[in-house]
Amino acid sequence: MVFEKNGYRWPQPLKGNQPQIWYGGDYNPDQWPESVWDEDVRLMLKAKVNLVSVGIFSWAKIEPREGEYDFCWLDRVIDKLGRAGIAVDLASATASPPMWLTQAHPEVLWRDEKGDVCWPGARQHWRPTSPVFREYALKLCRAMAQHYKDNPYVVAWHVSNEYGCHNRFDYSDDAMRAFQDWCQKRYGTIEAVNEAWGTAFWAQAMTDFSQILPPRYIGDGNFMNPGKLLDYQRFSSDALKDFFVAERDELSRITPSKPLTTNFMVSSVGVTADYDDWASEVDFVSNDHYFMPGEAHVDEMAYSSSLVDGIARKRPWFLMENSTSAVNWRSINYRKEPGQTIRDAMVHLAMGADAICFFQWRQSRAGAEKFHSAMLPHAGEHSQVFRDVCELGDDLQQLGDAGLLGTRLAKSRVAVVFDYESEWATEHTATPTQNVRHFTEPLDWFRALADCGITADMVTLRSDWDTYELAVLPSVYLLDRANAQRVRDYVAGGGKLIVTYYTGISDERDHIWLGGYPGAIRDVVGVRSEEFVPMGDDAGALHHLDLSNGTVAHDIADHITQIDDTATVLATYKAGEYTGMDGVPALTVNRFGKGLAGYVGCRLGRLGIAASLPALFEALGFELDQTDGSDDVLRVVRVGGVDDVDDSASHGGQPSVRFIFYFNRSRDIVTVELEGEPLVVSHATVDAEHAKGSIEPNGVIVVKG
Ligand code: GLA
Ligand code: GLA
Repeated sequence: MVFEKNGYRWPQPLKGNQPQIWYGGDYNPDQWPESVWDEDVRLMLKAKVNLVSVGIFSWAKIEPREGEYDFCWLDRVIDKLGRAGIAVDLASATASPPMWLTQAHPEVLWRDEKGDVCWPGARQHWRPTSPVFREYALKLCRAMAQHYKDNPYVVAWHVSNEYGCHNRFDYSDDAMRAFQDWCQKRYGTIEAVNEAWGTAFWAQAMTDFSQILPPRYIGDGNFMNPGKLLDYQRFSSDALKDFFVAERDELSRITPSKPLTTNFMVSSVGVTADYDDWASEVDFVSNDHYFMPGEAHVDEMAYSSSLVDGIARKRPWFLMENSTSAVNWRSINYRKEPGQTIRDAMVHLAMGADAICFFQWRQSRAGAEKFHSAMLPHAGEHSQVFRDVCELGDDLQQLGDAGLLGTRLAKSRVAVVFDYESEWATEHTATPTQNVRHFTEPLDWFRALADCGITADMVTLRSDWDTYELAVLPSVYLLDRANAQRVRDYVAGGGKLIVTYYTGISDERDHIWLGGYPGAIRDVVGVRSEEFVPMGDDAGALHHLDLSNGTVAHDIADHITQIDDTATVLATYKAGEYTGMDGVPALTVNRFGKGLAGYVGCRLGRLGIAASLPALFEALGFELDQTDGSDDVLRVVRVGGVDDVDDSASHGGQPSVRFIFYFNRSRDIVTVELEGEPLVVSHATVDAEHAKGSIEPNGVIVVKG
């Protein structure tokens, strides 16, 4: 069997073992003398590690000279791990090409907008559209697959690593030719490209596909054609995906029984590839996530992992990387506070991960990541980090034994939509204000809903947002005709919708929907805005707008000039006489068919949204129920008996089985009523007799209900 699109396969346990929550991390034994390996295995067993990812950056050691392979060291370490009961997620080892390759073939190096070469010296300096690089990488995939096809300890393939992390955009001639082909496939004729990109503007019309260039340097302060730029984002995601698919197919042809993945980078701050599109190309979704230091830490993590769960369509997913403590790549690399290592792992687990892994097992002694935390820190096993790693290993085993693997994240009543293409389009540099983009808004909504006790599901525009009781479209700037119709059908059929400013402005080519904003769905929301009203810090300029409900708008508001008879105004602006905004509707609700659509015509931020939600809920007929939590506790539920997914690795969870995770979102101790038997109690205490828990900041309690 070769790869089956949209299939789902999970790495199976080593022979004779029961399925467990996978636990471990990236393991780079090639950075250490072999004498260290035995100690690694000893400590892995102490921490209950049962899987490691090996060989990710090992190309130069596996193929030290062209065509000369050395698998001996890798065989030895895999054997050592496997015999100890530790499974291997084996890399294709293609992420970082060796010096001999780039020395012989400098034409595989990617180029920036100005044509400058990205030289070797770090990693991922290859261009995905290079036929030469592809040949070398596929040859290595073949060699790896041939060599390890019967290895019983290799339970999955880890293809490449974080595609696009450093080589997302390439402007080389290879990229140009591939972009031309991509446009030909998407549009068929050059006239259709001209139409899509609006090339009548600034004499950009093309008469032949050979005139299509990547968006190369156009001079500072100038503005690239937005249609072309948006397509370049799509193309770049597709070019990397094509490369992944080629590597995957090479591996899966030879080892059809080993499931494959590649680690995505889903978070609130990155949109490297359209991972929702990629998800149907992997056997199981895996993600790398690094914490956002500061007050959004736990919320952002819950948001991102919920989005991964949405992208995985509620099938189990794999946390491939997170950190035990500090990273090395921010300007200030804050460590994790006591409790956060375990709490953070529990957030991913709560949101549907069935595997918790770290970058990396043993902290490097040399190299650019020597200050990046690891499971086994420089300080060694007698350290708080390693004690936490061991405690987490115990917790995961206990949750596995209690049946967590048979459960999935319970479906929320509320969906918040995230859209990669809307983010790409709103990143253009010629917009109403550079302070407004798509992707700050979904996180604000996720957090504001949590402030009201609701843990929302983060889902993409392509997915099933229209099956939820309440759906939020936060600055979903691009709506094509089909999606506009989905919005219409959802509300007409009885759905409860909240739409914000900057939604439904353009179609998929970034052509504005005419006649007033939001042109794509004006009828659904029952309002019409004529102009954007940006706000900023410039002296004397409009800085903010007060709303009649006590909240404050910043950055942008819609000048709504017309509302339909079916719409009700919930709040207006209270503004100075000459601003033109006094009394203008800010929050409205419209009846449309059998449903209701709320409209939030300005940026309120998390606190403003949270303060406005009760009135919006009331107008939408959305009632909070007793299962919702409180503002300072994030409550997440995993349930058994989810049968809408064909799951070869299903462990037969009972519908009655529930695991409830309680996270403290605040900086004070909070108390919760426990809905079951406590299994994990970290930085918290439990009064079992009265079914009460008390959770410190950074603490977590998990119960089985
Ligand atoms: C200049 C140019 C115009 C137009 C305006 C926009 O004046 O001449 O073509 O781009 O800027 O402000
Ligand atoms: C990424 C990479 C890892 C490592 C970590 C450090 O996730 O995949 O190899 O560099 O970042 O945070």
